[in-house]
Amino acid sequence: VKATPHGGVEQAAEAARTVLVRTGRPYPVVLGRGVAGRAAAVLAGLEPPLGPRGWALVSDAAVAALHGPTLRAGLGGWPAPAAAVLLPQGEGGKTWEAAGAALRRLARAGLGRGGVVVCLGGGAVTDAGGFAAAVFLRGVDHVNVPTTLLGAVDAAIGGKTGVDLPEGKNLAGAFHQPRAVLVDPDLLATLPPREWRNGWAEVIKVAITSDAGLLELLERAAPTPAGALEPAALETAIERACRAKADVVAVDEREADARRVLNFGHTVGHAIEAAGDFARWRHGEAVALGIACVLELGVRTGVTPAAFAERARELLRRYGLPVSGSGFAPEDLAPFLLRDKKVQAGEPVVVLTAGPGRPILRRFSPGDPDLHAAIRSVA
Ligand SMILES: NC(=O)c1ccc[n+]([C@@H]2O[C@H](COP(=O)([O-])OP(=O)(O)OC[C@H]3O[C@@H](n4cnc5c(N)ncnc54)[C@H](O)[C@@H]3O)[C@@H](O)[C@H]2O)c1
Ligand SMILES: [Zn+2]
Repeated sequence: VKATPHGGVEQAAEAARTVLVRTGRPYPVVLGRGVAGRAAAVLAGLEPPLGPRGWALVSDAAVAALHGPTLRAGLGGWPAPAAAVLLPQGEGGKTWEAAGAALRRLARAGLGRGGVVVCLGGGAVTDAGGFAAAVFLRGVDHVNVPTTLLGAVDAAIGGKTGVDLPEGKNLAGAFHQPRAVLVDPDLLATLPPREWRNGWAEVIKVAITSDAGLLELLERAAPTPAGALEPAALETAIERACRAKADVVAVDEREADARRVLNFGHTVGHAIEAAGDFARWRHGEAVALGIACVLELGVRTGVTPAAFAERARELLRRYGLPVSGSGFAPEDLAPFLLRDKKVQAGEPVVVLTAGPGRPILRRFSPGDPDLHAAIRSVA
């Protein structure tokens, strides 16, 4: 698959779909079953090509055991990795210490400026591995191979890399775009139900805010008890959600107004996540509760048709996500709402929806009665 200079895309012989992320240096999200198993060919087709070279794997032990062999086979013709860095699983791998240890491994392995870091894992791995790539030798190339649904449609795309500090999540980081993102839906087959749900929240967010076709696809599709979809529907859902993320990233690589659409359900969702000490709710679950809250807020303020709000809530339930039972009253969430990065003049900016393609930004004071009622409706 090649990105042509005018931004078009040439399909290679293999069946893979490509979503071009039009940043300063555009890069493709190459999506298709088996893509990880033919990674070398995909990377050789980049412009400029990424041929065999010194490289390091960044992953976690669980993911490396499940899917490392597929990727290694896909990089046949490449030398053995100079280092295989296995971060602690999940958020524990996304720390300053883990990133520092990874950097020291890269240094001891003698990875050079022409080397590449290949991140195989969920968002924690691509965030921390991408961060290591961003700062090692002041920046080396990296390639993301997401293995969670959340990673495939969100975390692996857009160039936000970083780690958590004990003082808070995502407090240290850098913008560093990958050379390519390889999304192989077959790697998701081993995801536990909670990880599927976690990712669906972001896909449903895109459907509700900006893609009526995706909304219909998700309504027609029948998730398995674990939360998977049959391959064709899954691939299309991932492609459309990736496209939405890529479009918004392209508008402005840094935080821009357009990027706020991705924030739908997140202002309240982040507050719920933080109020639960990041342990009670996974990000996607908190976002689902946040979405249910802003749907109610939209209905109360005359922005969201009641029938649309119910349709959206039904979709969340269908994919196993909570729409009530957050466990938090308005007073519990207020301090966290004010900590949100999107606060303007002391008032959180909340994204409401009038339907797909019709996001509406509104500022609410933390004491707003409609906001309180909406938070109570999901408590
Ligand atoms: N950079 C961004 O723009 C961005 C966007 C959204 C989220 N994030 C970040 O992503 C992180 C969350 O990522 P996540 O939800 O992908 O979770 P994760 O990376 O924490 O992984 C969750 C768990 O799933 C396991 N796992 C991963 N792939 C698997 C597979 N294929 N089969 C079985 N188990 C598998 C992992 O070992 C881990 O235990 C958060 O730190 C969040 O801040 C970043
Ligand atoms: Zn999110």
